[in-house]
Amino acid sequence: MTALSAAAGAEITGGLGSSSEDDDAPWRDQSLPLSERMKLSADRPVGVRMMAAMAQQDCGQCGYNCRDYASAISMQAEDRLNLCVPGGKETARMLKSLVEDMGGGATDPDEAKAKLEARSVAQAALADDRPGRSRARPVLARILKRYRLNQEGSAKQTFHVEFDLSASGLTYRPGDSFGVFPKNDPSLADRVISAIGAPPDFPIAGGTLRDVLVSDMSLGTAPDGLFDFIGYLTGGARRQKAKALAKGEDPDGDLDTLDVLAALEKFPGIRPDPEAFIECLEPLQPRLYSISSSQRERAEIVSLTVDQVQYTVGGRTRFGVASTLLGERLDIGDELKVYVQQVHNFSLPSNGNVPVIMVGPGTGIAPFRSFLQERRCVCATGGAWLFYGHQHAASDFFYRDELEGLQADGALTRLSLAWSRDGSQKVYVQDRMLDASEELWKWLEKGAHFYVCGDAKKMAADVEKALLVVVQNCGGHSIDGAKAFVQQLKRAGRYQTDVY
Ligand SMILES: Cc1cc2nc3c(=O)[nH]c(=O)nc-3n(C[C@H](O)[C@H](O)[C@H](O)COP(=O)(O)OP(=O)(O)OC[C@H]3O[C@@H](n4cnc5c(N)ncnc54)[C@H](O)[C@@H]3O)c2cc1C
Ligand SMILES: NC(=O)c1ccc[n+]([C@@H]2O[C@H](COP(=O)([O-])OP(=O)(O)OC[C@H]3O[C@@H](n4cnc5c(N)ncnc54)[C@H](OP(=O)(O)O)[C@@H]3O)[C@@H](O)[C@H]2O)c1
Repeated sequence: MTALSAAAGAEITGGLGSSSEDDDAPWRDQSLPLSERMKLSADRPVGVRMMAAMAQQDCGQCGYNCRDYASAISMQAEDRLNLCVPGGKETARMLKSLVEDMGGGATDPDEAKAKLEARSVAQAALADDRPGRSRARPVLARILKRYRLNQEGSAKQTFHVEFDLSASGLTYRPGDSFGVFPKNDPSLADRVISAIGAPPDFPIAGGTLRDVLVSDMSLGTAPDGLFDFIGYLTGGARRQKAKALAKGEDPDGDLDTLDVLAALEKFPGIRPDPEAFIECLEPLQPRLYSISSSQRERAEIVSLTVDQVQYTVGGRTRFGVASTLLGERLDIGDELKVYVQQVHNFSLPSNGNVPVIMVGPGTGIAPFRSFLQERRCVCATGGAWLFYGHQHAASDFFYRDELEGLQADGALTRLSLAWSRDGSQKVYVQDRMLDASEELWKWLEKGAHFYVCGDAKKMAADVEKALLVVVQNCGGHSIDGAKAFVQQLKRAGRYQTDVY
């Protein structure tokens, strides 16, 4: 149950159908572009179209799942339209237009009453007073340990990061995620301050401009409101260009590359009032990481498996704010605001006799390390099969010694590995699934639960396609029968995903 529905003891429906109806809807496919999802939901009520506008990842970063966030907005219980991190600006823009389409407030007294009730439910959920259980009530945790998981020669920078939970007493379960409130790199904040020609110590909200930029505001993707604002500060062709960018048009073909600094550098010489400038930016959102440890093994720590985001645009290297903070900028002993997020269904079967199949390439291995540690501690006997893959066996085999230990202890009964860049052809986890089709089908027949973690855009969809092939070829189903079989697995909670 989500935070919202848990607080209410009931779901807010907001014009949406039942959860299972929505789950089967074609626009729930996270690999489809937003325009396609909107077309597929065009004839549905506004609450449903709001849900279709979300990134469909049910990741919980907004504090809800996609369905409850859409319900809360459509019932006017939530007015923040920019909370869907994976959907980004595109989702926020679509939500804004759908809210505008809805027109003013409710006139029907029953509707108005329902909205008021929904608002109080949403407020209760967001003000969850259990410390460290939601983004509304983070607690402090100290970083204990960090080491790089890749070996020499890897193209990736992926880190194992441990936090000490002893001061907070936070608890979590395998499958939960860990929310961290990042801070921006101060050197990036300094470049933004210099681009607007403002004094770093300009007083704002009891602090300074620099403090606010480092701790509170997103310096990632430039929001529409910033371009609107720039439009007011400039004239002529520059004004027209800024207005076009604010509408999501892309006059120079560079919209996707414009973070806040790049947007300011595109319009050099603007001198906004610092306070008005801050008001145009979006708040810095927490980031979620799948927990990669089990408290049964070590009660006072939580570990994460973090891939550092780093890429270069136009000669400037850009660093993911949270992943670089965790991988590089935090010193051992530093504290960070954190919380445990349990949003959607992603958990082990309660009975250890039930077999589990886990597919987690790259950082997707994180929750499965937690699952396997847990299963070892409870002496689960059901069998556990891990499909892991990455670029190179020599440099990207995360937790290799530990996995070998888990195999020796009998907690991991089968390990299938796929190295995508070691041979002349790419080999992915789904290729290994197809290689082992017969065995995989036998596990499913024995009642195995199937889990996928990692990339939402391509990998998760390709793994599902491979499973459909296995069900067709080994279960003797038609393609429609295979789809119905997989859908049934999902409904029964036997196919669960944690993708991002
Ligand atoms: C439920 C959940 C679990 C997760 N678990 C994990 C996990 O276990 N491990 C993990 O590492 N991550 C995980 N993530 C992802 C994580 O939350 C962050 O999204 C990720 O670390 C990036 O955040 P950041 O702040 O470092 O980057 P940001 O500052 O948010 O930058 C990322 C943005 O940069 C842009 N970008 C990135 N690469 C490029 C590129 N090559 N070219 C152009 N633009 C680019 C994109 O707009 C992208 O959205 C999880 C996410 C969710 C929702
Ligand atoms: N939507 C996004 O922006 C997005 C999505 C996923 C991950 N990420 C970010 O990327 C980082 C996580 O990456 P990661 O370290 O977990 O590894 P990764 O980049 O997801 O790669 C892990 C392995 O999966 C392979 N792979 C690529 N496409 C695949 C497919 N369609 N099916 C199956 N396997 C596939 C990769 O092979 P090759 O690379 O050799 O092809 C590699 O061997 C995080 O920072 C995360 O936030 C972002």
